[in-house]
Amino acid sequence: MKVTTMLSSSSFLLLILLISANPYGRALQGGNGIEEELEDVKRSDFPTGFLFGVATSSYQIEGAILEDGKSLSNWDVFVHKNGNVNNGDTGDIATDHYHRYLEDIETIHSLGVDAYRFSISWPRILPNGKLGGVNAAGIMFYNSIIDNLLLRGIQPFVTIHHWDIPQVLSHEYGGWLNPLFQDDFVHFAETCFKNFGDRVRHWVTINEPNMAADVAYERGKHPPGHCSPPFGNCSAGNSDTEPLIAMHNMLLAHAKASKLYREQFQPKQGGVIGIVVHAIMYEPFTDDEIDQEAVKRALANNVAWAFDPLVFGDYPPEMRRYHGNELPKFTPEERLLIRDSIDFLGLNHYATLYAKDCIRSSCGSSDSACAPGGDRAICGFVCTTAERGGVLIGEPTGLPTFSVVPRGMEEIVDYVKNRYHNKPMFITENGYSTPPQQEQVDDFQLDVKRIAFHKAYLAFLARAMRNGADVRGYFVWTLMDDFEWSFGYDVKFGFYSVDCATLNRTPRSSAKWYRNFLRNISSDSMKPRTAVAFWSKVGRAEE
Ligand code: FCB
Repeated sequence: MKVTTMLSSSSFLLLILLISANPYGRALQGGNGIEEELEDVKRSDFPTGFLFGVATSSYQIEGAILEDGKSLSNWDVFVHKNGNVNNGDTGDIATDHYHRYLEDIETIHSLGVDAYRFSISWPRILPNGKLGGVNAAGIMFYNSIIDNLLLRGIQPFVTIHHWDIPQVLSHEYGGWLNPLFQDDFVHFAETCFKNFGDRVRHWVTINEPNMAADVAYERGKHPPGHCSPPFGNCSAGNSDTEPLIAMHNMLLAHAKASKLYREQFQPKQGGVIGIVVHAIMYEPFTDDEIDQEAVKRALANNVAWAFDPLVFGDYPPEMRRYHGNELPKFTPEERLLIRDSIDFLGLNHYATLYAKDCIRSSCGSSDSACAPGGDRAICGFVCTTAERGGVLIGEPTGLPTFSVVPRGMEEIVDYVKNRYHNKPMFITENGYSTPPQQEQVDDFQLDVKRIAFHKAYLAFLARAMRNGADVRGYFVWTLMDDFEWSFGYDVKFGFYSVDCATLNRTPRSSAKWYRNFLRNISSDSMKPRTAVAFWSKVGRAEE
């Protein structure tokens, strides 16, 4: 099927007019010169070799739930239980990428990206985990994706595990709660290195272990749906301890896979291996010193929880200070194994939140802005919130805690740069979902806010890099609207919309913008004179 990638000339003109309006400009004023950068951010602001890409994950797009030998995943089962996903949505078909991957690769190619980040469905290549054999059809599928990308000059940037686990294993082990599960992951990773590693230069072992531990074992929103009060009322789980255990097992599983890669594959295959963390930035709720301390704890409790062990060999001192025996310990051998087990740090950055101290101030349930549990060790005794005095920290998006705060990109990159001695980083996800109330037809395809979002976040990323941060790439979440976990299809992050009946993909204005950005054609140089005059008039009128 042919994908229409051209916008009509009238909508293109409108797009140019709207881009020039820059909805986030005002938020960024303050004499710091950023408005200019926002207008001007260009591909050439990033170094040669910097990878620009788009990102997806297997469960969110593939569909083909039981085809060609694939077994059920934990997600396949979870979504079919009442109440787990908005509207009862499932990934049974998702965007049908399994059948349309060639068309999708053409689309990715048409954007002019350097790299494509995708993940391997574990139950598609190892339907029975470690015990059964390798599913040849699954291997063929990913081989074909990789070969077709390379044919078009696009680098595969492969996530081994992006949350879908063969249900048989999930059932047997209770997911990441059992240390025995680590070796199953290593077997899966080895299968990937063996079959695909001759052509893959960038490996991510696990997507967002911190987010996975949090949503699956603290809040019960992802399989296996564990939690306990005050975080929720699940049939099983302990929100104070299980996230710590799950994370511990994920970190050790990562480290074992990384050791195997480095010893047996890296010397010949020459790739690099890292992990991706959900990297929220935090700002103090008040100027008070106790809230500044809360920011440090929040960052340690989220970002450093995963990165510190993999770089330094142990959990962050901030966490060890307030956790008791529930924080698992690494043996001396494990410390050696885990220390320095990443070649790069992957950051998925979507949000900046306020952090409010819950040690010396009250964060009880009467404080409506605070999510439950802020007064517990598992949350670092920090209440995190997107709201202060009824005002959001930034413009809203389709997800309640993801507000638009472009400066957060620079702040989180600086934090990681300083804490980890400027180890190479990738921004492995950054993206915008339209708030539901703004999903009129215009915003739906003519997504000027998404464009402004990426321009603003890229401007702050470029600034962090000019100040020395070693960032090697930036991936947009996401190529096309997909299955957004417990939000189902309600939340739309795509450069392409997907018609729910026909599954046809249609480019949004943002796809066009990215293509031009990557060709180094700025929206300013595309702007006809009349448009410039029109918007400068409007600008003056507003002053
Ligand atoms: C991240 C996930 C990704 C996607 C985005 C919106 O936490 O890694 O799969 O759902 O959020």
